[in-house]
Amino acid sequence: RIAGPCSLVIFGVTGDLARKKLMPAVYDLANRGLLPPGFALVGFARRDWSDQDFGTIVHDAVREHSRTPFREDVWERLSEGIRFVEGTFDDAAAFERLKSTLATLDVERGTGGNHAFYLSIPPGAFPTVCEQLSASGLATGDDGSWRRVVIEKPFGRDLQSAKELNAVVNRVFPEDTVFRIDHYLGKETVQNILALRFANQLFDPIWNAHYVDHVQITMAEDIGLGGRAGYYDGIGAARDVIQNHLLQLLAITAMEEPVSFKPSELQTEKIKVLSATKLAEPFAETAARGQYTAGWQGSQRVKGLKEEDGFDAESNTETYAAITLEVDTRRWSGVPFYLRTGKSLGRRVTEIAVVFKRAPHLPFDATMTEELGQNALVIRVQPDEGVTMRFGSKVPGSSMQVRDVSMDFSYGQAFTESSPEAYERLILDVLLGEPSLFPVNEEVELSWKILDPILEFWASGGTADPYEAGTWGPESANEMMERTGREWRRP
Ligand code: BG6
Repeated sequence: RIAGPCSLVIFGVTGDLARKKLMPAVYDLANRGLLPPGFALVGFARRDWSDQDFGTIVHDAVREHSRTPFREDVWERLSEGIRFVEGTFDDAAAFERLKSTLATLDVERGTGGNHAFYLSIPPGAFPTVCEQLSASGLATGDDGSWRRVVIEKPFGRDLQSAKELNAVVNRVFPEDTVFRIDHYLGKETVQNILALRFANQLFDPIWNAHYVDHVQITMAEDIGLGGRAGYYDGIGAARDVIQNHLLQLLAITAMEEPVSFKPSELQTEKIKVLSATKLAEPFAETAARGQYTAGWQGSQRVKGLKEEDGFDAESNTETYAAITLEVDTRRWSGVPFYLRTGKSLGRRVTEIAVVFKRAPHLPFDATMTEELGQNALVIRVQPDEGVTMRFGSKVPGSSMQVRDVSMDFSYGQAFTESSPEAYERLILDVLLGEPSLFPVNEEVELSWKILDPILEFWASGGTADPYEAGTWGPESANEMMERTGREWRRP
């Protein structure tokens, strides 16, 4: 579907996200023919830039980061609708200038009074921007035109602050006009979990506590904090990634079949499963946290956290977190969900591994099954997108020896269609007013409710355990699994 006439206003255009993801995604949408002829891109920031200056910034970002090939004619058409408004968030006059710029675009480009405001800014600035949009009359459309607001995480730092933030945003923008970005939901492989589970007969009969031993959800990154120390210090891995991306992956993996793919039905199922999810205790045994120290990524020597610029040497902020969750439903009772994430680990990989129970009986000589592990279905979210099934097979030869083998589905081989980047899909959905892939208020608050107890426990004492960069996390995370007789996968 092609979006209707509208303008996209980005607050925070000087940031990394805007340059690396948002501007390139807008161009890619234009290149795929998914933006309307009447489209405008407006940047708002405290910079002494002209429309042309901002156009050059967008152009450079597109050349460097867009997914699709650069085409002069597409760029020409897009750049005709690029405008810049200079101002600070607390400057009412700047919002008046924004208003008149948008009104002019309505006439010149036919954007029809439809505006999406993308707040790619620190959450501390949300209240001011929302209030300014409201005071200048920009927050509500008239004559059937729409206004939408897009907000980026972090949505708060605990349940209480999330509630306050949601209240501030909802005072100005009704919930059905708020689009909260969790870019994991924009990934093809994440949406494919729904297809895998609900388009097939093969998996559902075994997708429950009768057959599943446990589930491991891993998001590992091979880079450290680099220039992001300022944002990350005091936030940490659990707030940065588990509260949003990993709990959304859990919700989609564990939820019941929605009545339809209508946004409200999907949300209902995710909310049900998040309501039934809680941390396993005692935390000293069921969770682990760590901080990377200097080490090696391949042949390259990399810094430890404390040597990164801008990181407080006394900081106890975790760059690795692992937790155990219980989903108290008939389907999942007794099946632990292990979630882990970390910076500066051995590899960049995100996957969901559903690990099955062992066969109740093995009619083999015990020595023949030494290399037989547990069956597993692994959804490879990234980078090598696909699905792997692991099962035992006879080793060729005269004895009945069995060993694990795997069967792979790979996106690259199975499809010729190219995957849109997550932000591309999500920005298009904002412009279309299609809310399925955006967590609602209640999901965000439930996720904090799940996580708050471990955050409080960690804040109450103790320190994050060191792990060498390039390894798979602190020893305490391995011990956490060993206590249950299980082990982490090495993707
Ligand atoms: C962001 C986190 O939400 O996701 C970052 O704030 C993290 O810390 C990033 O690096 C990872 O995204 P992706 O799509 O590269 O897995």
